[in-house]
Amino acid sequence: MKALVLSGGKGTRLRPLTHTMAKQLVPVANQPILGYVMNHLREAGIKDTGVIVAPETQEEVRRYLEDGGKWGLNVSYIVQEQPLGLAHAVKTARDFLADDDFVMYLGDNLLGSGIRDAVGRFQESDADCMIFLKEVADPRAFGVAQLDESGNIVRLVEKPKEPPSNLALVGVYIFSPVIHKAIDTIKPSWRGELEITDAIQALIDSGRSVTGEILESWWLDTGKKDDFLAANTTVLDEYTRRRIEGEVDEQSTIEGRVHIEEGATVLRSTIRGPVVIGAGTRVENSFIGPFSSVGRGSVIKDSVIEHVVILDESEVVGVVRLEDSLIGRNARVRKSESLRGALRLMIGDHSKVEI
Ligand code: TTP
Repeated sequence: MKALVLSGGKGTRLRPLTHTMAKQLVPVANQPILGYVMNHLREAGIKDTGVIVAPETQEEVRRYLEDGGKWGLNVSYIVQEQPLGLAHAVKTARDFLADDDFVMYLGDNLLGSGIRDAVGRFQESDADCMIFLKEVADPRAFGVAQLDESGNIVRLVEKPKEPPSNLALVGVYIFSPVIHKAIDTIKPSWRGELEITDAIQALIDSGRSVTGEILESWWLDTGKKDDFLAANTTVLDEYTRRRIEGEVDEQSTIEGRVHIEEGATVLRSTIRGPVVIGAGTRVENSFIGPFSSVGRGSVIKDSVIEHVVILDESEVVGVVRLEDSLIGRNARVRKSESLRGALRLMIGDHSKVEI
């Protein structure tokens, strides 16, 4: 069993962050999303992993994953010149995949549980495809599966107005090599992409067995700001343990599950978990409330923040209070006494400010 991780694409929905970074590298609770994916592959006993990258963002993906050794994986990079669809990505990886079974994992999806048991069930079955599904309240924005009584998939529909079930397709699939033949039969969709759902439908139509694996745990597509904050909240809640590796002075209070990484400093402040504070960050005379993560090398001073994600090398000074916000890298948010109520902004492309 091999793995194919999709880390190409455009990432338009997470702009402006994705103007300067691959969306799969945006950190959730201070770990890039791709890191969680790699952990799941390792747990499933997979070694050979192909990573689809886009020409624009490949360098930083390579810098993060290197040869995969950190996770005990052998990573090969496959450049997809243009994001022409998930099935196109599989086609691009044809030589790497050879005639092996493989897991296809979208590099911007986060799953609350691993994939080891599902991989085992696929290997014991005679199915040619297993798709991961999650019950959602409103399936109209997703790919949706219709199942028969024995759990086999009979139909897949993209973003249906009248969904045949409430089971949305999660970004993980397992395939036998017959998928390549199915991909060869499909044509680009109206949006110009080779859709993996069309290829799976072709498998079903030719009588192959396609099964569904219903996910009990949470699933997060980190697409937009609010989804991203929700992902951060869930992951902080699930994974944060109390670990004080940095320095905390006697006038500070650290409540609950707070991870203060090595080299971080907390002075005259209160931090209420779950919270992660990155290495080299300085928190001074501030309150950091639950479900916040602060990246590395940042400064939070004279501020009150809650439910906020701040990436690396940024500064929040004199801000009372900041909530439900996402601050990118090298950003500055400061209160200025001289402005007497006026605002002075320098905002990058596709930014959003609510005042
Ligand atoms: P999407 O979220 O469908 O596409 P996108 O990255 O272009 O995002 P946006 O809608 O914000 O512009 O892609 C799902 C995952 O698959 C994501 O990790 C990117 C990756 N991908 C590829 O690697 N190649 C492709 O051709 C496509 C369409 C996506």
